[in-house]
Amino acid sequence: MKGLPPGAFRREDEAPDEVFYRSARLVTHIDTAAIAAVTQLYREYFPPGGAVLDLMSSWISHLPREVAYARVAGLGMNAEELAANPRLTEWVVHDLNRDPRLPYGDAEFDAAGLCVSIDYLTQPVAVLRDAGRVLKPGAPLVITFSNRCFPTKAVAIWHELDDAGHVALVARLLVEAGNWAPATTLDRSPRGWGDPLFAVIGKAS
Ligand SMILES: C[S@@+](CC[C@H](N)C(=O)[O-])C[C@H]1O[C@@H](n2cnc3c(N)ncnc32)[C@H](O)[C@@H]1O
Repeated sequence: MKGLPPGAFRREDEAPDEVFYRSARLVTHIDTAAIAAVTQLYREYFPPGGAVLDLMSSWISHLPREVAYARVAGLGMNAEELAANPRLTEWVVHDLNRDPRLPYGDAEFDAAGLCVSIDYLTQPVAVLRDAGRVLKPGAPLVITFSNRCFPTKAVAIWHELDDAGHVALVARLLVEAGNWAPATTLDRSPRGWGDPLFAVIGKAS
C-alpha cells in the first residue's frame, strides 16, 4: 500500500496460519464491557431478521441475544471453535491470508462484523474489497478492535501504531479497497474500566 513502509503487513510468525490456529481457544479476547460495546454496535447497525456474516469468527459472535437473524455465517480458522458457536447457522474454515476471496456470492449479506481480528490480515485491502462484494449495497461492515492481540500474528504496522493510528489505518484500508462509502469511526470504550473498544464502520457502495 502506498505510503506504508515495506514489510508493513509482514508478521513475526510467518508460518501458515493453520499451525497457530490448530488448537481451539475457547476464550474471550476482550473483557465483558468491551464485548457489550461490540454487541451494542451490532444492535445499532445489523438489521433484525437479516443475513449476517461474522468474519474471522470463533465460538462467540457477540450478537444481541434478543435479536433473531435469518442467517449467520461464520468464517474462521478453527473448526472446533466455529462448531461451538451457538449463533452460527453455517460456518466455514477459510484462511484469508492464503486466499482473500470470500466463499460467498455477490450481495448475499445485509451486514458483517469483523471483531478484534483485522490486525491479523496480511492482505486486508483485498479482503475488505471482497467483503464489499458479498454485502448488499449500503450494508454495514462493523470492524472493531481493542489494544490486545496475538503479537506474533499481528502485522508489523499494527505494532507501530497507537489506538488513533489503528483507527486511521483501518479507515484508510476501506478507502484503498475502493468499494466503500466514507467510514464512520467511533470510540466506544467503556467508561471507567474495561478494555478500550474502537470501531470503523464501512457501508458497501
Ligand atoms: C482474536 S480472535 C477473535 C475471534 C472473534 N472474532 C472474537 O471476537 O472473539 C482472531 C480470530 O481470527 C481468525 N483468523 C485469524 N487468522 C485468520 C485467517 N488467516 N483467515 C481467517 N480467519 C483468521 C481466527 O480463527 C480467530 O477466530
